[in-house]
Amino acid sequence: MRLLMLLLLAGLCGLGLCRSRDPFRWLSYMHSRYRSYGSLQADTTGGDCPQECDCPPSYPVAMYCNGRGLQQVPNVPSRMKYVYLQNNQISAIQDDAFVNSTAIVWLMLQQNLLTSDGIGPNVFSGLTNLQRLFLDGNLLNHVPSNLPTSIRVLRLSSNNISALEEGAFSGMEDLTILKLHDNIIEDVGGALKSLPSLTLLDISSNRLRTVPSLLPERLHQLYLESNSIDTIPADVLHKLSQLQFFRLANNKLTDKGIPASTFNVSGLIELDLSYNKLERIPLVSTKLQNLYLQANQIKEFTLGSFCRVVDIRNYSNLRVLRLDGNEINSGDFPQEAALCLRLARSIDV
Ligand SMILES: *[C@@H]1O[C@H](CO)[C@@H](O)[C@H](O)[C@H]1NC(C)=O
Ligand SMILES: *[C@@H]1O[C@H](CO)[C@@H](O)[C@H](O)[C@H]1NC(C)=O
Ligand SMILES: *[C@@H]1O[C@H](CO)[C@@H](O)[C@H](O)[C@H]1NC(C)=O
Ligand SMILES: *[C@@H]1O[C@H](CO)[C@@H](O)[C@H](O)[C@H]1NC(C)=O
Repeated sequence: MRLLMLLLLAGLCGLGLCRSRDPFRWLSYMHSRYRSYGSLQADTTGGDCPQECDCPPSYPVAMYCNGRGLQQVPNVPSRMKYVYLQNNQISAIQDDAFVNSTAIVWLMLQQNLLTSDGIGPNVFSGLTNLQRLFLDGNLLNHVPSNLPTSIRVLRLSSNNISALEEGAFSGMEDLTILKLHDNIIEDVGGALKSLPSLTLLDISSNRLRTVPSLLPERLHQLYLESNSIDTIPADVLHKLSQLQFFRLANNKLTDKGIPASTFNVSGLIELDLSYNKLERIPLVSTKLQNLYLQANQIKEFTLGSFCRVVDIRNYSNLRVLRLDGNEINSGDFPQEAALCLRLARSIDV
């Protein structure tokens, strides 16, 4: 037996496969080679890794196919939960591309060449475990149809979406973050109103002319900067009782377009109205902490806009106030403002 093993080793060494004269080192070398070979190829948990992707043996539910010049979605083994396909040249996806991969939780398809015509109507519908779908940086004209209702984070920014169909997000009760920035949306209609979990909505850099009036009631963050908004419908913020961060910078807002107590809502922490055409400081709640008004046309310092009597003292909760780039200067800053702005960390006039 011992002789046979030595003869076998000698034979393999003769073929140049032996790296060491020490048979134990050699055996452990072959064993480690076999182990990695075995876990990549002899996969009993749901199919092989496609040649063009990496499926690390140490993390068998992830498949990395990003940045490889792919034009098609490769076959996705059914065990995969995290599928990285971003930064490729995929322009179309057939309806059956993911039929055997219903375990997918994250599907990364950002920075490809996907068009709406190229995506079959049911590509995503069977992915009942999907939580993150990233489709930003493609050429989509519409929100893909039949999206799974399990999605929590949906990115559709940097596409060419012009409108949101009424039922585009229907039944998506867990959708928490929706990114639609850098599209050409003019109107959202009622497509967003029934999203009970949505807390962050980003529609910045689009073509909105007004703040949408049908918005989900649980929003915490609403980003609408860099649109063409010149008016805000009355009471739109009063319906958003959880709203904390509201960004409206780089729009076309004038005093006339903002009904009197629009921003006198107590949940708001940060309000960005910079780079608009305001001539007055709008009335805001005394709870507001950060108020950005730089680069408007403000001509007077109306302390009463943010400073009001609370518990017999004039009070404001402002920490940051920016008024630089307006038509006032620090000489217009009323003396009594200092008393009121006790909590301020930074004031730019
Ligand atoms: C899905 O699995 C079935 C059965 O194993 C197979 O015949 C079919 O080709 C697979 N489809 C895709 C798109 O991988
Ligand atoms: C974007 O959509 C508009 C109209 O919806 C269309 O005219 C234009 O050609 C599209 N651009 C691209 C790059 O697809
Ligand atoms: C602003 O809101 C507060 C609290 O809701 C309310 O008491 C106050 O009357 C409002 N002020 C104006 C001018 O609307
Ligand atoms: C609060 O401020 C206003 C405007 O500056 C001033 O007229 C008023 O006397 C102040 N009230 C109190 C209680 O400090």
